[in-house]
Amino acid sequence: MIRDRKYHLKTYRQCCVGTELVDWMMQQSPCVHSRTQAVGMWQVLLEEGVLNHVDQEHYFQDKYLFYRFLDDEREDAPLPTEEEKKECDEELQDTMLLLSQIGPDAHMRMILRKPPGQRTVDDLEIIYEELLHIKALSHLSTTVKRELAGVLIFESHPKAGTVLFNQGEEGTSWYIILKGSVNVVIYGKGVVCTLHEGDDFGKLALVNDAPRAASIVLREDNCHFLRVDKEDFNRILRDVEANTVRLKEHDQDVLVLEKIPAGNRVSNQGNSQPQHKYIVMSGTPEKILEHFLETMRLEATLNEATDSVLNDFIMMHCVFMPNSQLCPALMAHYHAQPSQGTEQEKMDYALNNKRRVIRLVLQWAALYGDLLQEDEAAMAFLEEFYVSVSDDTRMIAALKEQLPELEKIVKQISEEPKAAQKKHKVLLQLFNTSDDRAQKRQPIRGSDEEKVVLKPHDVSVFTTLSVNGRLFACPRDQFDSLAPLPEQEGPSTGTVGTFELMSSKDLAHQMTIYDWELFNCVHELELIYHTFGRHNFKKTTANLDLFLRRFNEIQFWVVTEICLCSQLSKRVQLLKKYIKIAAHCKEYKNLNSFFAIIMGLSNVAVSRLSLTWEKLPSKFKKIYAEFESLMDPSRNHRAYRLTVAKLDPPLIPFMPLLIKDMTFTHEGNKTFTDNLVNFEKMRMIANTVRTVKFCRSQSFNPDAALTNKNHQDVRSYVRQLNVIDNQRTLSQMSHRLEPRRA
Ligand code: CMP
Repeated sequence: MIRDRKYHLKTYRQCCVGTELVDWMMQQSPCVHSRTQAVGMWQVLLEEGVLNHVDQEHYFQDKYLFYRFLDDEREDAPLPTEEEKKECDEELQDTMLLLSQIGPDAHMRMILRKPPGQRTVDDLEIIYEELLHIKALSHLSTTVKRELAGVLIFESHPKAGTVLFNQGEEGTSWYIILKGSVNVVIYGKGVVCTLHEGDDFGKLALVNDAPRAASIVLREDNCHFLRVDKEDFNRILRDVEANTVRLKEHDQDVLVLEKIPAGNRVSNQGNSQPQHKYIVMSGTPEKILEHFLETMRLEATLNEATDSVLNDFIMMHCVFMPNSQLCPALMAHYHAQPSQGTEQEKMDYALNNKRRVIRLVLQWAALYGDLLQEDEAAMAFLEEFYVSVSDDTRMIAALKEQLPELEKIVKQISEEPKAAQKKHKVLLQLFNTSDDRAQKRQPIRGSDEEKVVLKPHDVSVFTTLSVNGRLFACPRDQFDSLAPLPEQEGPSTGTVGTFELMSSKDLAHQMTIYDWELFNCVHELELIYHTFGRHNFKKTTANLDLFLRRFNEIQFWVVTEICLCSQLSKRVQLLKKYIKIAAHCKEYKNLNSFFAIIMGLSNVAVSRLSLTWEKLPSKFKKIYAEFESLMDPSRNHRAYRLTVAKLDPPLIPFMPLLIKDMTFTHEGNKTFTDNLVNFEKMRMIANTVRTVKFCRSQSFNPDAALTNKNHQDVRSYVRQLNVIDNQRTLSQMSHRLEPRRA
């Protein structure tokens, strides 16, 4: 079988023909059942270098192609001796058995090396059957596996240490390990984990269109992979890929991602296809930060970049990664240096990395604003960070763009405390302890001028105290002596005489102006401090408390005035007045006061006054019934939520419901599960907080027609509501007005 052969005028020395070799193999042993099997066995020998295609162009094929044994490559190769022949004959059957065992794999690799277009129906069937045994594909459907059979490509690398791809690069393929193992390497951390036969890697970058989150380095010689290139991956796998991805470092889960539909995006080809992306479900604080930095889009402008993903992290990090932990981590990320790649690649990576960290710091500082002033570590970090960045701009011109922005915000926070204070001043009235009346334990009802600005750190010195529904601040050490006496139970006469002269619209307008002042003072983070317990943060929630108390105050104002009104006809007038004020509040999109009034009217002390309600004109009854239906708590306050969803900002939301939503989310979900931050919970709470931001995204413009007139009296009236906030007292009063009928 071995001889010189001619083909197209060329002579090939000492070679055999593929088909003849297959025939020969079939005759040698009963363990060879088919030509395909024999082909695989020859392919093993070819891969091991025992024989080669004469032009080294082909793998082994059952065709009229020439193959030559290695021993025949040498011109003067001696023929085997009789002794050697005998030895070979003895070994033949064992060798055949071994080859028949490893042949199928070689055959498989051979098929996988064929360009996808050249795979035959039989080839595809063989690949498909092989895919059934691969762990990384076990969750996929039959159809998907069959499609994959047509596109998977075999890739092998001979040397340990080979870098398959680098962190930060664009992702072009997804890999499954067929044989061998790889290290996952992250800059600044080194090897974080090892992946073995059956594991897969590299789909994060493809699904999220993000840079590679890690480098992949071969851990041993001769590793084999199955590869799916990006286009095929997107077509076949993107939408059906596993729903959950767990990233491990040192055998511990560090990040759990879950796939969600990402809306319909238009693909490069212009056809719109449903697409998915991975979002963070849980993770260690450091890994979550790393992930957000890596997937941040630099092309977006800063405003767009207030994109909610990053925003969730910035808003919520105080819950699981306090500034004392975040700041050093940011600094380390800023200075992180890549360890692989060419000089240019390293520089590009470092630059992008720095720009991302700067972007995050800018957003972080913007959200916290002057809240950072009390945080020495954070302030020190900001200054040090600014110095690092300005040092770098001398070397890296591209960083110059962001420097002015950074400078501005650092200055704003550190040098302009007064301007900052204005933004979320704490409006509290102070007990004037030097005053006689204070000794008599009487709070001062001060004018606005007496209100003081309490900075959050003052909370340790002052405490707040509610007297008849009004909130007061008083020095902590005098709190006990200043508590109101039991006989101080609020007003004994109503003010209806005063405010019935004021128009309902005016009252609602002035109430709304005041509510806006209070609402604007509430910092978004106060909602988080409030939900997770402010003592955990050593931060004040005084602005929020004040706003929530205002809600109660209005509610009790309604009840107090009605219960203090002894004349039936006047009471009917009062009901009408309140319904009108509520209607105007609703018009001004002040849902907080709107609900406070309606809740006041539905308080038992008022609702039980059937004589009064009977006399209410039916037109008002109807309006009230409609308002009350908005308060219907069924189906999770659906009626209210539908109404609000239709409103554009500026609007003042029904704050107690927002608080309730956040508390439910907080109490119903753990913050940490198995030491990983439950980021899903963070996202839910951040979404609720964001509605506050949305409500305030347009500023409220007072009604010019109303403000031009001098409404000083209305203005001070709504700011000085005098109420009884004791439900028992109010109920007793109500019974006195209209005793229960037999
Ligand atoms: P990708 O970002 O496309 O490229 C690097 C891959 O490494 C990444 O997808 C993951 O599939 C894989 N990987 C495994 N463990 C980790 C880890 N702890 N951090 C980041 N990537 C990891």
